[in-house]
Amino acid sequence: MPPVPDLDKRDIPGRGRIPSHVGIIMDGNGRWARRQNLPRTQGHQEGLKTAKRIVKAASDMGISYLTLYVFSTENWKRAAEEVAFIMGLVKTYLRGELDFFRENRIRIRHAGDPEGLPPEIAREIREVSEDTRDFPGLSVILALNYGGRDEIVRAVRHLVREGGAITEEALGRCLDNPDVPDPDLIIRTAGEFRISNFLLWESAYTEYSISDKLWPDWTDGDLKKAIGDFQGRERKFGGIKA
Ligand code: FPP
Repeated sequence: MPPVPDLDKRDIPGRGRIPSHVGIIMDGNGRWARRQNLPRTQGHQEGLKTAKRIVKAASDMGISYLTLYVFSTENWKRAAEEVAFIMGLVKTYLRGELDFFRENRIRIRHAGDPEGLPPEIAREIREVSEDTRDFPGLSVILALNYGGRDEIVRAVRHLVREGGAITEEALGRCLDNPDVPDPDLIIRTAGEFRISNFLLWESAYTEYSISDKLWPDWTDGDLKKAIGDFQGRERKFGGIKA
């Protein structure tokens, strides 16, 4: 394995060029399971272990926001058994990690439509979000029953109800987490070059990183590599080089 580069953490407060907000499309759980002749659910089980490792690594690195794409508005098309299993993992995660969130001052937030979720999952996420809302460390945003198009449509409906001018700023204020900065970096695992309805509005100027590794095989070294690569990019946001 090539060495993992040291991260440039120099000009903190912003922790140098450590991205403030990282989004991850955690792909490849099913393929991981198939390769081991295991049921798909086992892939998600392993995927949860990786998510825990990566949350800890992101917290230790000083990332401020980590959005994990757990379940999309399109994932309801999957077999009922798989859907129920993933929802069960979310519950296990939120209940089982509460002490870890407290110890590490981690705040839990939700992106997506709570109304489409099983009521007990919506309740769980609401309660843990409430319990952790004052924690100043990493914010972990669980994208659950989340679709970028759905988020925009819900925001537009809100705006129309309110009346007033329709501007980028006004729409931005109606998104699920309006105070969270746009993602600096979106990572997708399992070698797919697709955005799959993730953070469509927020990712206008996001940098992308695609990893060939399947999500259950991902490590904090892979996160460091993706961030090291990000640190070498030049971001111009539509402008020109100074
Ligand atoms: C995509 O892989 C993965 C999902 C739709 C589920 C992601 C869920 C987890 C990682 C577990 C729960 C995590 C938390 C933080 C509660 P896929 O099934 O589409 O993989 P494939 O393309 O190889 O079939």
